[in-house]
Amino acid sequence: MSTALVILAAGKGTRMNSDLPKVLHPLAQAPMLAHAMRAGQVLAPERTIIVAGHGADQVTKAAHKIDETAQVVLQTEQLGTAHAVAQARTALEGFGGDIIVLYGDTPFVRPETLHAMMAARAAHDLVVLGFEAADAGRYGRLVMAGSQLARVVEFKDASPQERAITLCNSGLVACDAQVLFRLIDAVGNDNAAGEYYLPDIVALARQQGLSATAVTCDEAETLGINTRAELAGAEALFQDRARHDLMEAGVTLMAPDTVHLSLDTVIGRDAVVEPNVVFGPNVTVESGATIRAFSHLEGCHVSRGAIVGPYARLRPGTELAEDTHIGNFVEIKNATLAEGAKVNHLSYIGDASIGARTNIGAGTITCNYDGVMKHRTDIGERAFIGSNTMLVAPVTVGDEAMTGSGSVITEDVAAGALALARAPQTARPGAARKLIAILKSKKKQQGKGQS
Ligand code: UD1
Ligand code: MG
Repeated sequence: MSTALVILAAGKGTRMNSDLPKVLHPLAQAPMLAHAMRAGQVLAPERTIIVAGHGADQVTKAAHKIDETAQVVLQTEQLGTAHAVAQARTALEGFGGDIIVLYGDTPFVRPETLHAMMAARAAHDLVVLGFEAADAGRYGRLVMAGSQLARVVEFKDASPQERAITLCNSGLVACDAQVLFRLIDAVGNDNAAGEYYLPDIVALARQQGLSATAVTCDEAETLGINTRAELAGAEALFQDRARHDLMEAGVTLMAPDTVHLSLDTVIGRDAVVEPNVVFGPNVTVESGATIRAFSHLEGCHVSRGAIVGPYARLRPGTELAEDTHIGNFVEIKNATLAEGAKVNHLSYIGDASIGARTNIGAGTITCNYDGVMKHRTDIGERAFIGSNTMLVAPVTVGDEAMTGSGSVITEDVAAGALALARAPQTARPGAARKLIAILKSKKKQQGKGQS
């Protein structure tokens, strides 16, 4: 059965008090919208349609970064959830399969739950995701009649008896595309909010002799975000779960509460993460690597056996091969380090490649930027870069070459050569003592002058 995702994201998010559309606020270093899109990926959707309204241009850009095949449709006026889904009709022309409706501001729905909804679809025309609410508040209520879902009533329109129901509507729906749009056509707006309610399709389906049911999930999965405080709460919840999942998967987190993860962080079994480490977007760490305290990683890959930190910064485009060592106060950007290469102290390596088992001495800097353009530094295998070498790019250093400490390397260094690019040392015997004597007598004279 083919599926299409329709993700509702047109709401203004007034309570965020923000210029940024609500669904683009970051959660675990990814726009909120990415969470719903990613959750839906488990159904291998044939199409993904995002219904945008406020800040549609920004939403479109963000959506395409996550999935370039996603289609964004515009809902110019927010007339209700049924009206929102109706906007996806043209984008779903020619699609024959199931639609699953998700909310862009509900990031925590689990893959298992979506699978359960699709499984229930085999026996029912319409499947709604519900949950037992600890405090049902203003959620829509699911009115069951045996195993059939009779209808959904919005809080505003509910009778006291209906308000007493604790089985609530999450808003997520699964239904055949043709059937869904036919039902939506029949939805009116004669209700307390004057909106076209998507959940009204349940009663309409039952009237037409179709079957409807509810699948339930944990309340936490349906958590919606409306305020900055709820966003912070959701972040904490995400971090807790992600840390827990990593530890279950065999990763050691020495102080889990101090490790910050992104939606897409991948860390292999038996990797060790010390306290106070931040994983920005797009980081993969292989099994058995060690990320030492106070390191910051983003857009990088760390291979098996590598040691990073303490106090290391890996920026986008960093590729560390097996058994590489990156030490304290080292920044790496857009650079590959081959197996066993070491950059242990106080260095900046940017736009570079470093060959296997090469050692980069303390304080080495690749001077990659000339004020206008970026240039590359390529260093071969088993090379030795002396401490405090400035590598003025573009420049290459061959295999087994060396540079002397303090050298400013502006020309290529051939394989096996030793490059020295600093003022030669001179020595003047006794000169230090003479100098001190002169300085001392000067000081004495100045002291007399003042008295
Ligand atoms: C909706 C449900 C309610 C359910 C609750 C769960 C309806 C009528 N009610 O209520 O039964 O318990 O969610 O959280 O559906 N949206 C649009 N365009 C619109 C209106 C909404 O894109 O015209 C989007 C919003 O951005 C949001 C989602 O749809 O992502 C839900 O809308 P919201 O206004 O939050 O609905 P609720 O009143 O919470
Ligand atoms: Mg809501």
